[in-house]
Amino acid sequence: MCGIVGYTGPREAYPVILKGLKRLEYRGYDSSGVALLNGELKVYKKKGKVSELEESVVGKNMHAFTGIGHTRWATHGEPSDRNAHPHLSASGQIAMIHNGIIENYASIKRELINKGYHFNSDTDTEVLLNFIEDIKKNNNGTLEEALRIALKRIVGAYCILLIEKDNPETIIAARKGSPLVIGIGKGEHFLASDASPIIEYTKEVVYVNDYEIAIVKPDELILKNLGNEKQTPFIQKLDMELAAIEKGGYDHFMLKEINEQPDTIFDCLRGRLHAEAGTITMSGVQNNIQALTTAQRMVMVACGTSWHAGLLAEYMFEELCRIPVEVEYASEFRYRNPVIKPGDVIIAISQSGETADTLVALENAKQQGAFIFGVVNAVGSSIARMSDAGAYSHAGPEIGVASTKAFTGQLAVLAMMALKIGYAKGTLDEKRYRELIKGLEEIPEKVKQVLNDTSAIEAIAEKYKDAHDFLYLGRGYNFPVALEGALKLKEISYIHAEGYPAAEMKHGPIALVDDKLPVVFVATKDRYYEKIVSNVQEIKARKGRVIAVATEGDTVIPGMADDVMYVPDADEILAPLLSVIPLQLLSYYIGISKGLDVDKPRNLAKSVTVE
Ligand code: F6R
Repeated sequence: MCGIVGYTGPREAYPVILKGLKRLEYRGYDSSGVALLNGELKVYKKKGKVSELEESVVGKNMHAFTGIGHTRWATHGEPSDRNAHPHLSASGQIAMIHNGIIENYASIKRELINKGYHFNSDTDTEVLLNFIEDIKKNNNGTLEEALRIALKRIVGAYCILLIEKDNPETIIAARKGSPLVIGIGKGEHFLASDASPIIEYTKEVVYVNDYEIAIVKPDELILKNLGNEKQTPFIQKLDMELAAIEKGGYDHFMLKEINEQPDTIFDCLRGRLHAEAGTITMSGVQNNIQALTTAQRMVMVACGTSWHAGLLAEYMFEELCRIPVEVEYASEFRYRNPVIKPGDVIIAISQSGETADTLVALENAKQQGAFIFGVVNAVGSSIARMSDAGAYSHAGPEIGVASTKAFTGQLAVLAMMALKIGYAKGTLDEKRYRELIKGLEEIPEKVKQVLNDTSAIEAIAEKYKDAHDFLYLGRGYNFPVALEGALKLKEISYIHAEGYPAAEMKHGPIALVDDKLPVVFVATKDRYYEKIVSNVQEIKARKGRVIAVATEGDTVIPGMADDVMYVPDADEILAPLLSVIPLQLLSYYIGISKGLDVDKPRNLAKSVTVE
């Protein structure tokens, strides 16, 4: 949440920062701003999207070789010009941007007010900035020293960038809990929340660690810990192409990312799944096979869509590996004082690898001795780095705020893990193992078939776009898919939607059914098929409007449903990789037919780095 960019070097800073902010806008789009250092320290900021900032500075002198920029997802203080970042310190000498939350800001603010400080915004950021400046003034020291002292008193999460009027060409940065990547160019440095603003200029990056301070000049990068000891920057090569973060001819990132799924799932399986040989190569699993096959319990920890992937993993691991699984919302798990025993394996599932609740839940579990396996998409992210072992989902950068290709990537990784562990453990026999490996190998081609012709889904979207509520129902492996379909519809089209196990419907939600309520059944051919047919009849008997996701060739469900979206036949364990695709498309097409910004739905942000 919140995107930050910084630049120092021989280029004009403003265009670099502006382009970077546009790439990071998925992290928040309530307001944006830049601070430029050019003898003077100038700040420009504006409520609304980055394009509004861009328009507001037309004709102004934006010349500078050093600067910082921010795109905001509001936490403290409503979205407005005055709450937008960067903030200026009381003296006007220091500008700061911040991604995160300072939890003890209220007590620090009181201290500062008692000392005579006034505040121009409602943000915790301005409090931290003036706190730093106050320490600097009292100690008559440098900004870096003051920052180090201030951070020792701060409770919360932050990635901050600071520039100072009397310190030309220098950006000072610090992080704890919120991400920071530094791109290393020739005589220039780029700073950002993720690599997307950097990739165009350099592939050499340093991921700054928690409790590190970076002093960044065009020709120099110094990393220190809070004890003022120098740290050796670990330079890594980015494995990402510019095309991966551009729309590539699609109207929206969401549509591009839905359509990328045949390739992203293929990339996830590539080099790992060998159907003919009947092998699965995953070093993170292989190197820890003892811990994984003897696990007494697995705990899936995640949020949102990733939590739905965890729920599907529960079905997979219990069935194929006979390991008891619990699926936890990270936000609850972190505060609940959960019981963690030797032999427990925590599986962290996250697209961004930066979700604050998941990160802290894992830190707590790690302190209690848990073994953490990360299923993460963003390479080099905090969760990837703090996991004991892991497997990347290789879906590539996901820019659309609603998760689509990352979800199917997570499912592909989790399915491979369950197969590998179950086979090694002996709970999965050779025949079934081979069947599932082959089925998984066929998934990318089948996803392609679903995406080949989406006209029926577009027509269904048009027909139901004015409904006020939707119900999504599924059984077994299709129940988490129903939850995911409902979540996608809510976030993209602002239509209230609920997901339920189809059989639970009778215990309450059926009261909602009338001739206006669209009920989406995820009703592919599986072991519950007969039962879900009965559930469809129960809805039809009450005049509900049934939209079904059905298996190609099925005649029974289509005979009862008002509208049908077809997917190819697949083993029920793997079917969610297909049945979720029409649901992603349905919410996309409803969203655009209502004229909504599907890539940046209101109030949301990708990468939720605040709790
Ligand atoms: C929904 C969505 C969110 C994320 C959730 C977890 O479309 O994108 O629900 O799934 O915020 O994010 P990650 O996976 O980055 O930890």
